[in-house]
Amino acid sequence: MARRATWSQYRETIGNRSGLFEALADRWPVERALYPGSYVDLSPSTAIASVTYVDTDVRAARFFADSDRIQRELTGHTRQGARTDVRFLAADYTQALDIPDDSMDLLISLYAGPVWEHTRRYLSPGGWLLANTSHGDASLAALDDSLRLVAVVQYREGQYRVLVGGLEEYLVPKRREAADADRIRASGRGIPYTRTAFAYLFQSR
Ligand SMILES: C[S@@+](CC[C@H](N)C(=O)[O-])C[C@H]1O[C@@H](n2cnc3c(N)ncnc32)[C@H](O)[C@@H]1O
Repeated sequence: MARRATWSQYRETIGNRSGLFEALADRWPVERALYPGSYVDLSPSTAIASVTYVDTDVRAARFFADSDRIQRELTGHTRQGARTDVRFLAADYTQALDIPDDSMDLLISLYAGPVWEHTRRYLSPGGWLLANTSHGDASLAALDDSLRLVAVVQYREGQYRVLVGGLEEYLVPKRREAADADRIRASGRGIPYTRTAFAYLFQSR
């Protein structure tokens, strides 16, 4: 029988993103996060008190159904005294989710498709969107007047760094005509920028 998917095993592929969420939670008051298309990436729960994970993959549903396993996986990884409220929705994030509107401080969009446009209603005013360009989400966010870039996340040699200076150098398209929301949606990919980062943090206005 195939090994069950777990965060510890998944970390061997994608690395450990705990440092990224720790850096975010250290700097901004993020208490509740929504992670659509999370698969089994449990890293936000190492630093954020309440995280709702959403995925259609049955392996993710199996992983999150085992609450003892979740607690064991988090042991030794959470910030001192951190509360860990982990919720999982086996759902398609493009459909309505059982989550109140305006209830999340942080929306996480990493390698999982057009998360922002489908789940923005759950983000509280003034909340944050963490997105990368892989499926075009950060590129769409960069064109969205309701968001402003407040930080970039750089990744080097296993370390995440959150930078708040020099932001004007990021999200500058190599070709201006490529910065078109309809074209980005149709391609499902981000556009090339003169300077890149692992991910971008936007704040809703
Ligand atoms: C490439 S994995 C990325 C997982 C994780 N976000 C990461 O960065 O490692 C994409 C995940 O998004 C999930 N996904 C894609 N579209 C989805 C949708 N509409 N609703 C829920 N989950 C979705 C897939 O099932 C898969 O687990």
